[in-house]
Amino acid sequence: MTNAPADSGLFAPFRLGPLHLPNRLVMAPLTRTRAGADGVPTPMMATHYAQRASAGLIIAEGTTPNAVGRTYANIPAIHRPEHVAGWRRVTDAVDAAGGRMFLQLQHGGRVGHPDNSGLTPVSPSPLALPETIHTPAGRRPSVVPREMTADDIRSTIADFAQAARNAVAAGFAGVEVHAANGMLLHQFMAQNTNRRTDAYGGSAAARVRFAAETARAVADAIGPERVGLRISPANTVNGIDEGDTDHIYPALLDAVGDLGLAYLHVLFADPDQPLYRRIRDDWSGVLMANPDLRRSGTLPADGGRSAGERLLASGADLIALGRAFIANPDLVERSRAGAPLNPVREEYSMYVGGETGYNDYPTLDATADRSRPVLSVTG
Ligand SMILES: Cc1cc2nc3c(=O)[nH]c(=O)nc-3n(C[C@H](O)[C@H](O)[C@H](O)COP(=O)(O)O)c2cc1C
Repeated sequence: MTNAPADSGLFAPFRLGPLHLPNRLVMAPLTRTRAGADGVPTPMMATHYAQRASAGLIIAEGTTPNAVGRTYANIPAIHRPEHVAGWRRVTDAVDAAGGRMFLQLQHGGRVGHPDNSGLTPVSPSPLALPETIHTPAGRRPSVVPREMTADDIRSTIADFAQAARNAVAAGFAGVEVHAANGMLLHQFMAQNTNRRTDAYGGSAAARVRFAAETARAVADAIGPERVGLRISPANTVNGIDEGDTDHIYPALLDAVGDLGLAYLHVLFADPDQPLYRRIRDDWSGVLMANPDLRRSGTLPADGGRSAGERLLASGADLIALGRAFIANPDLVERSRAGAPLNPVREEYSMYVGGETGYNDYPTLDATADRSRPVLSVTG
């Protein structure tokens, strides 16, 4: 582990719309399936996020804006009053610990299962996820999703906008629209999952329309300075094969460039990669970059800090890290001090409930003084 210079750009403050971020390290959205069966956030989630409040910004895990958008059992939701009340306990805990938080709005589209949501998933075209999917009864074959009608598209956009209002009512500073990682908006953008012949299919400009209209509706609902957009160019996760990646992202940036969004969030970001550089150069707003750590196989010992510093030096404004925040509630303090990081344990798995592998990663202080309890929030 190398020593981090405390004057690294990562620790410089940043103004994000109305928010003052004390540093540039962002906790990436991380699905951990610790909500109740009804999608209501649990007290252990409040503890988890409050432990990580020193992040410049926390982006809370993918949260479904409506019932059919649910990916897995025990992911949180934000479309009923009890969801808002549950999230309010989380944002209050983070606020009390001095943190700032956005909520990621995630509609899974075909990444879902009737055993998880009670409903047949929907998607731009009736094409099943080419993988099994995790359900409470174990992994199950995916089902063929129902092709969305024009009415479905309109009502889903309205659901995103209402979910954003709910998120603000729950105390979030803003929301991140999830157009990455093979979720519904990405399914519309990719050629292999969108075979539509209406205004939402065909050319790249037509395939990005749904994501752009969603971002616009959400921005209209709560103000563009409270809305981020997450993309994952060329990422093949969840059976995505975009086809014309080099057309999709310029078309998307054309369609959302004038909205005045709070930020664009790109994974996997690599300053040597031409498409990333093009996106960086074409985007005039705040750029959040989640470094591409895939070449290193396992998580590097510095958790992605040096890759993040390279991205900052090449024009990114904010650096999002995922697994390093799973294992290190005090990632910011550890990175600033050049202290070793906790490695990610196996139990970090998305599908394991409970506090183990979730709220039991020690802080530097707790490691030095075992008698000091980690911050706990109840109720
Ligand atoms: C357990 C786990 C859950 C994740 N859940 C989400 C999610 O809800 N939404 C999302 O956009 N990305 C999700 N991701 C991707 C992360 O946000 C991040 O992009 C990825 O881990 C790469 O960053 P890292 O190399 O710093 O971990 C998840 C990743 C992991 C490991």
